[in-house]
This record gives sequence, C-alpha cells and structure tokens, in this order.
Amino acid sequence: MIEKDKTYVVMGLLDSDSIAYAIGQVIEQWGGKVIFTVQNERMKRIFFDRNKKWAQEDKDRLNIKYCDVTVEEEVERLFADIGPIAGVTHSIAFANPKTCLGPEFHTDAHEDLKNGFHISAASLATVTKFAQPQMSEGGGIVTLSFASQLAFAYYNWMGVNKAALEATVRALARRHGKDLLRVNAVSAGPVSTKAAGAIHGFEELGKTWERISPLPWDPIGDKLEVAHAAAFLMGPYSKKISGQVLYVDGGASVIGGELLPHERP
Ligand SMILES: NC(=O)c1ccc[n+]([C@@H]2O[C@H](COP(=O)([O-])OP(=O)(O)OC[C@H]3O[C@@H](n4cnc5c(N)ncnc54)[C@H](O)[C@@H]3O)[C@@H](O)[C@H]2O)c1
Repeated sequence: MIEKDKTYVVMGLLDSDSIAYAIGQVIEQWGGKVIFTVQNERMKRIFFDRNKKWAQEDKDRLNIKYCDVTVEEEVERLFADIGPIAGVTHSIAFANPKTCLGPEFHTDAHEDLKNGFHISAASLATVTKFAQPQMSEGGGIVTLSFASQLAFAYYNWMGVNKAALEATVRALARRHGKDLLRVNAVSAGPVSTKAAGAIHGFEELGKTWERISPLPWDPIGDKLEVAHAAAFLMGPYSKKISGQVLYVDGGASVIGGELLPHERP
C-alpha cells in the first residue's frame, strides 16, 4: 500500500510495456498521485505515438515530465518544481548494446562503460540527492535491479552496473536514514520490455526462468507483481526496510544445482 493522495515520482517511462508504467498504474489504483518522467521531449512523443489508440482524456490524465538523469541540472529542476512527494522509483538503465552487452565481455569502449555506469547506477544518487528536500517527512526510494550476484551470458557490463546499483542503494540507505529516507531495490525476474528486448539472448533468459523458478514465472503478466513490490517499498508498510534488495523473481535466485520440475528424473 501507499499513502493515499500523496505524490510519487516514477522515473523511466518509455512505453506502456515499461516497468515504470506498471508501477504508476499500481500507485494510482492504490490511491496515490503519479508524476512520470521520460528522458526527453522526443521520448514523450514516442510514448504517445505508440499509444495512438488511447482516448485524449487518458493522455491528458498522465502527468509526464522530462528528465535526463545524467544532467544534474535537469534532476535538480525536476524535483525543485514538483513540491512535496512521498516516494520515488528509479526505473532506469542503459548500456550501449554493441559494446557493453553481447557475446564478448571484453571491450575497449571505456566511454560507453562510463556512460552505462552513470545512467544505470550513479544516477540513483543524483536522484536521491535532489528528491530528498521534497521528502521532509521521509519516504521510499526504489530502484530496479537484476540478479547481480550471478554472471549471465550477454548481460556483461549491465550485470556489473546492477552490482554497483545495489551497492549505491546500501550507501544511500546509510547516508539518508537520518532523513527518514528508505532506499531499496527490487530485483525482478525477466519481464518483457523495450530494454529487455535489447539484451541479446533475453528469450533464452525467459526459458531459463521457466526451468529454475520454483513459482511459475510469466515474463508478461508478472510485471504487475514487480510493480506491487516497488509500490510497497515506497509506501508506509515498509517503514523499517532500507538498504535491501527484494527479489521478485519467483524464487529463482535461491535455486542451485538446477533440477526442478519436479525434481527429475
Ligand atoms: N525488463 C526486465 O526483465 C528487467 C528485469 C530486472 C530489472 N530491470 C530494470 O528495470 C528498469 C526499467 O527497465 P524496463 O525493463 O522497464 O525497460 P524500459 O526500456 O521501458 O525502461 C528503461 C528506461 O530507462 C530510460 N533511460 C535510459 N537512459 C536514460 C537517461 N539518461 N535519463 C533518463 N532516463 C533514461 C529509458 O528512456 C527508459 O524509459 C531498468 O533498470 C532495468 O534494468 C528490468
């Protein structure tokens, strides 16, 4: 649950498949107000182009602002302009798929590595720094991670970024506990989105989850369960949870020496 009528910022909207979109919907269903952010104006146009069939009133209802998280002034302005908020979701990641993901781990594309780290991990600190003044009564900051304790084929430097993101969560939880901010991550199983589609071998990952997840895992339907957990971590029922990584992955993260269904031979 979240606090009714309070405002929550959900960053990282690309299209209606985005995890951010599902989180925003849950917040609204639970009685909160949502401010979405997209990276820039072009992304907002793309968002509405992809949802041409929506009624105008549905489009007007969405409160969408722009914010590139690598531009400190944009993050500062975003939070300065929006007034008091009760929670923030950072649902943002990027790494150049040509150099940072794919069949070869080694790369000399150091600028791409830095950019990927900036967007996918360090930006959580920028967001927290500028969101905090608008959260005078405290609140929840949540980010989205993926199984950083394991090395996956093709995921390469994004796996490194996710480990850095989770370390950033712990450092921010330590730094901002005195401000009554809780900072946590949801580590989600694979769900079908644009970012996931850019990962070579994503379909294979879905099949892996079918094999190893003790609970059934649906890469489309279970986005909602990921959103529920993120909303919970922003809301008042998680008041003493901070610095944690909450796995919403059907239990796959605890499975070793794979056998299951159930349990062969
Ligand atoms: N899809 C999955 O299977 C899965 C699993 C676990 C974790 N995650 C994580 O969930 C988060 C959201 O991803 P998604 O799957 O919803 O995909 P998505 O493509 O819908 O969302 C990624 C978002 O990051 C934004 N972004 C990239 N660079 C940015 C920048 N400089 N400034 C602002 N925004 C920027 C994109 O515009 C996009 O809106 C990511 O952190 C992703 O790694 C996804």
